[in-house]
Amino acid sequence: MTRKDLRPLPLNWIFFFFGFGLLWFPPSDVYGQEGTPAEAYSFKSGDPNGTGKWYMGREIAYVMGYQGMSWLDRPEREAEENTSILLKNMEIKPGEHLADIGAGSGYHVFKMAAMVPEGEVYAVDIQEEMLAELRRKQQQDGISNVSVIRGSEKQVNLPANSIDKVLMVDVYHEFSYPIEMVASIKEALKADGRIYLIEYRGEDPAVPIKKTHKMTEAQAVKEMKAAGFKLERNISNLPWQHCMVFVQE
Ligand SMILES: C[S@@+](CC[C@H](N)C(=O)[O-])C[C@H]1O[C@@H](n2cnc3c(N)ncnc32)[C@H](O)[C@@H]1O
Repeated sequence: MTRKDLRPLPLNWIFFFFGFGLLWFPPSDVYGQEGTPAEAYSFKSGDPNGTGKWYMGREIAYVMGYQGMSWLDRPEREAEENTSILLKNMEIKPGEHLADIGAGSGYHVFKMAAMVPEGEVYAVDIQEEMLAELRRKQQQDGISNVSVIRGSEKQVNLPANSIDKVLMVDVYHEFSYPIEMVASIKEALKADGRIYLIEYRGEDPAVPIKKTHKMTEAQAVKEMKAAGFKLERNISNLPWQHCMVFVQE
């Protein structure tokens, strides 16, 4: 290598390469108003039940530990959340491929599996204990149309362009990487697929759930819009939760 090779690049070359790079990879085109994922997340202390990590003005909640499994399977849940109506809202057809992201112990998974005898339900979670419980129930009842999938904090690990409907109940608000998660869901979803985003209503102080575990419709719409989805409708027939249906823009 000669001294000439080590000379710094002239400024006009640096501007050329840097400016050209920006033209090809404009961050706002990829990630909306919020910049790159790293810039989109910020950190400051907030609610005692929050993580201190923020996205679009919302503090991300802690992931509910597997120790809370019995609360997910509580007998009074049907009366409190009216899951039967939620599943009717999804207008599930027998051959559809469904994904339950953040499936937990499978409260919705096995109800949906019975509704798609010619289809498949993908049950995705990140906690080994939840995955083990899903497998235990699947084996106990001999269910053949459920696939248990280990996801990551950023990926659902589902085949591309394969899913008709995605269900997310009480989980989106605790994604530590919502941008990456929704991008990964988008990849797995068919072009005319739907996301059913179920969150405790943040607008309603009567819903007895901690603040960081609730969401307002306005906040959900803002975040999903940044990910390329629009609200088709919010079906207001659940006692405590929003039933927001999102489609690709
Ligand atoms: C409050 S529980 C709800 C479980 C289930 N949806 C229900 O309603 O019974 C949230 C679940 O989401 C899972 N979870 C959190 N972040 C996740 C991620 N990035 N990908 C997949 N699952 C996730 C947690 O491990 C937990 O099992």
